[in-house]
Amino acid sequence: MTSSQNPLARIEKLADFDGQTVALRGWVFNKRSSGKIKFLMIRDGSGIVQGVLVKGECSDESFDGFEKLTQESSIEVIGKVRKEPRSKLGFELTVLEVKPVQIADTYPISLKEHGVEFLMENRHLWIRSQRQWAALRIRSEIFFAIQDFFRQRGFTRFDPPILSATSCEGTSTLFSTPYFDEKAFLTQSGQLYGEAGAFAFGNIYTFGPTFRAEKSKTRKHLTEFWMVEPEMAFGKLNDVMDLGEAFVCHIVRHCLNHCQKELVILERNQAELEAIVAPFPRISYDEALKILEKRGHAIPWGEDFGAPHETALGEEFGKPVFVHHFPSKIKAFYFKNADDPNGEGVDHDGKYALGADLIAPFGYGEIIGGGQREDKVEILERRIQEHGLNLKDYQWYLDLRRYGSAPHAGFGLGVERTVAWVTGVEHVRETIPFPRMINTIRP
Ligand code: 4AD
Ligand code: MG
Repeated sequence: MTSSQNPLARIEKLADFDGQTVALRGWVFNKRSSGKIKFLMIRDGSGIVQGVLVKGECSDESFDGFEKLTQESSIEVIGKVRKEPRSKLGFELTVLEVKPVQIADTYPISLKEHGVEFLMENRHLWIRSQRQWAALRIRSEIFFAIQDFFRQRGFTRFDPPILSATSCEGTSTLFSTPYFDEKAFLTQSGQLYGEAGAFAFGNIYTFGPTFRAEKSKTRKHLTEFWMVEPEMAFGKLNDVMDLGEAFVCHIVRHCLNHCQKELVILERNQAELEAIVAPFPRISYDEALKILEKRGHAIPWGEDFGAPHETALGEEFGKPVFVHHFPSKIKAFYFKNADDPNGEGVDHDGKYALGADLIAPFGYGEIIGGGQREDKVEILERRIQEHGLNLKDYQWYLDLRRYGSAPHAGFGLGVERTVAWVTGVEHVRETIPFPRMINTIRP
């Protein structure tokens, strides 16, 4: 049996082969028999189709060999595609032949429930399960949507290094590694390099893995996660919120248009996603504190939000909300400051940082963090020192303020948190093929 005689089909494209005999390559997802009919659920990575084996229609060898087919055995199947309104796919396969490629050992993940710890140890196999498959397919579509969005808007992709001598988001979450006679860090954010890119290309975006030695064991924290970071020369705080809002709407719309099958598998409430349309509410940190107080989650001015505060803000609006003008003392060294809670940037230190975070509803937390950058060399030099960073390592970054400085702004969107929110999965560990977390480095 070779596929050369019959067209090789993918299950998600079976509709194109209605009435034809095709070859499929895949794995046994499940099987059952009832008398003279046997049912084989075939998985090929693009979907699942039910194959029906009827004695007489199917080759005797295949019919008798059915008993030997174990869960996740790899197989090649020849069958005739037939409309079947009762199947989710709309099609079934009348199986003519099944050829085992390898008969799988007893598969550790049965179709019953398993504990998360066990599934995480078997992540290399767990990704074949329906919900994991659906979430990772949506992740793949989101990567496409991201690139598509920035390309449409004329942003140049600009790749920062992963090994770096400087820290961007504070020194407490740096992973360090020997670098010949020096020490290097895994990048926490491509932003500082992205700023150099913005002054060379106008509008850019960086897109790659970023690393943080996060000790927090929460549903939102990974130690290795992907971030996309646009940076706009001459951009201001409002441009960050305008772009972030359009970006998130684009991603959600793309998934609604292209990931129906996956969203159904995940039982995602799609009305919630349909409601994600611009404009998103924009409130200052000071206003956020008032809302939090009203909702029974008061915090003193100057404190950062924790998970309960983000959840409460999400509940207040039911859609993503921008919080801007944070206390400068809780923000990174590079933010431009303002004197008042809705103000423009000033050329001195101010009480407020020109930052904007986007908080997703339903407890998914901050998915975007960004703002306007300090563009004056003297102020930035001082801040670098105040934050205990080594001025020498930032000379190239300060050069950006020496040679043609201009207002500029950007943000970072965390891909895994975004995938978690769009898919509705509870924990970010299910939104990346092989999650890295405080106690997870294998498989
Ligand atoms: O708010 P953060 O720390 O901002 C920056 O890194 C800026 N340099 C970005 C910029 O302005 N270019 O991180 C940005 C986003 C967060 O909003 C969150 O979505 C995600 O990155 N993020 C994480 N995602 C998963 N696990 C973690 N440990 C994360 N830390 C941040
Ligand atoms: Mg942040």
